[in-house]
Amino acid sequence: MRLDKLLANKGFGSRKDVKGLIKKKKVIINDHIVKDSGFQVNPEKDIVEVNNEMVYYREYIYVMLNKPSGYVSATADNRDKTVVDLLPSAYRLFDPFPVGRLDKDTEGLLLITNDGRLGHQLTSPNKAVEKTYFAEVRGDVTEQDIEKFRFGVQLDDGYIAKPAVLNVLHAAPVSHVQVTVTEGKFHQVKRMFEAVGKKVIYLKRIQMGNLPLDGNLGAGDFRELNEEEVQRLKTLTQKKS
Ligand code: URA
Repeated sequence: MRLDKLLANKGFGSRKDVKGLIKKKKVIINDHIVKDSGFQVNPEKDIVEVNNEMVYYREYIYVMLNKPSGYVSATADNRDKTVVDLLPSAYRLFDPFPVGRLDKDTEGLLLITNDGRLGHQLTSPNKAVEKTYFAEVRGDVTEQDIEKFRFGVQLDDGYIAKPAVLNVLHAAPVSHVQVTVTEGKFHQVKRMFEAVGKKVIYLKRIQMGNLPLDGNLGAGDFRELNEEEVQRLKTLTQKKS
């Protein structure tokens, strides 16, 4: 759809008025100042701002971030940079929040959305959504560790973790492993390895439910989920109650 038509439809005046706004550099699409009133807008995807206010024609955003180390999983923080700071201002206008938490030094897949219902369901203990991590662990991760994870290890506070699937990709001196858990306790994976006397030295989430991290996203990169991916996540939350 032409930009001038869309804005005229939205009540920003005639096409001539819209041209005036563009001339004054008041129209921004995807964080770029627009120069052409005939610009083709994709109402499903493009983020349009006029006079620093977003022109709303969609309710929700769903962003997949490859979280880099050094950012906290919060919307605001007095001391640290947050994962939401990594998004352009046009996205931040939607008031998005991270779905669940990754530690400051953990990397990888983090969903950021303003869909409170989906966010809540994906993190609800009742839904037991699987989260898969790649970890580098100091020392030799053994068959016994795999068995202990399979039954549920006891964490430092006495809590017995739910059964988890541990796969060793490469053994000592630094083992490379993949671990799939169905809960999201504070420092869950690190504490599970501590429970078997081992230390995680690198942690990256590579999958959440049926959504793998897009391998094209470098650390700090993000992209919106496509419609099919959003539907897939929603289906996942309908599984259990
Ligand atoms: N487990 C952890 O220990 N840390 C994370 O960030 C995620 C899972």
